[in-house]
Amino acid sequence: MATPVSIEVWNPNGKYRVVSTKPMPGTRWIRLLTDQDCRVEICTQRKTILSVDDILALIGDKCDGVIGQLTEDWGEVLFSGLSRAGGRAFSNMAVGYNNVDVNAATKYGVAVGNTPGVLTETTAELAASLSLSASRRIVEADEFMRAGLYDGWLPHLFVGNLLKGQTVGVIGAGRIGSAYARMMVEGFKMNLIYYDLYQATRLEKFVTAYGEFLKASGEAPVTWRRASTMEEVLREADVISLHPVLDKTTYHLVNKERLSMMKKEAILVNCSRGPVIDEAALVEHLKENPMFRVGLDVFEEEPYMKPGLADMKNAIVVPHIASASKWTREGMATLAALNVLGKIKGYPVWSDPNRVEPFLNENSPPPAACPSIVNAKALGLTASKL
Ligand SMILES: NC(=O)c1ccc[n+]([C@@H]2O[C@H](COP(=O)([O-])OP(=O)(O)OC[C@H]3O[C@@H](n4cnc5c(N)ncnc54)[C@H](O)[C@@H]3O)[C@@H](O)[C@H]2O)c1
Repeated sequence: MATPVSIEVWNPNGKYRVVSTKPMPGTRWIRLLTDQDCRVEICTQRKTILSVDDILALIGDKCDGVIGQLTEDWGEVLFSGLSRAGGRAFSNMAVGYNNVDVNAATKYGVAVGNTPGVLTETTAELAASLSLSASRRIVEADEFMRAGLYDGWLPHLFVGNLLKGQTVGVIGAGRIGSAYARMMVEGFKMNLIYYDLYQATRLEKFVTAYGEFLKASGEAPVTWRRASTMEEVLREADVISLHPVLDKTTYHLVNKERLSMMKKEAILVNCSRGPVIDEAALVEHLKENPMFRVGLDVFEEEPYMKPGLADMKNAIVVPHIASASKWTREGMATLAALNVLGKIKGYPVWSDPNRVEPFLNENSPPPAACPSIVNAKALGLTASKL
């Protein structure tokens, strides 16, 4: 039985009822909805992860659209409930949607929105931060300092890895993986090896041009290579960052066997989704290889860590904050709200979900389109001509 949920209401007399399962950063997203005759109900329940029953209670008997979160289980039960309440619009406030059963949504005629593009640089910056923190042992050194253990400079104190001239490996060179690769290549003059199902042409062109620039300036050029297998990346790279989507093909992509292929002093970063790594195997690998280091933003069974991980000095762990910059989180809220609003209003779907800037400009009204609907084709929704 669901517990009663507390809500905050905006524009109580609005014609369309839109529910957000969480308060979201900024106020623009609320204004965009209320300006278009929506009554906005925001769940303010002090409970981090809402259950399916909680959300069903929020949806109630009449609901036109819901903005949900990646911690929620959006499957058959919720989409049939939303459909019964007359709703045909849902958006995750995230680019990943592995928590959503898109086929179930399509079956009930519900559009599924996501928020690509706006979190690319912010997420890549956290992956870069974790790469640096792990390579230079920042967290260990900080703890040592605060514990009052520093009693003078020593040649061996917290010796880590130099990045310049080393190889950065990227698995999943899509939007975020490519942005991360550019940061590491340009910022630290690392060579790139990547593995993806598709060729990252723009990334390759960037590294080629940057390598030529360095050569013309009398410096060693950077290089790139597209690996034909993921194993090549694991064997060759000094720092490896994971950026694929989570699906059946990427579940436990990094397992015991693949961990053993990596260099003993390699650094592994995960800002994608927790189940991409077999976390129990990772804990064992960290125990056996003290100079192998990881930076993790995501975990296999969030919010929990596998036993032993929290004790490992060679692991840096942060609580799924890769997209947590103010600009990005407000932008994600805006895109999610506009996905729901656009479907309610019958707007077409924006033609290029990688080019979402027009929706984020606070000084002009957003285009009359849904920024990104992942099941647009399956639902036969029309594409915007803009
Ligand atoms: N930690 C966070 O807060 C956070 C924030 C944003 C995104 N993410 C995660 O990052 C993922 C990537 O986001 P994006 O915007 O770059 O998506 P994207 O679709 O642009 O990139 C994903 C890439 O993964 C590749 N890929 C798919 N299956 C693969 C496989 N088996 N092996 C290698 N590559 C494979 C795809 O070809 C694609 O290029 C999201 O799906 C999400 O799960 C996490």
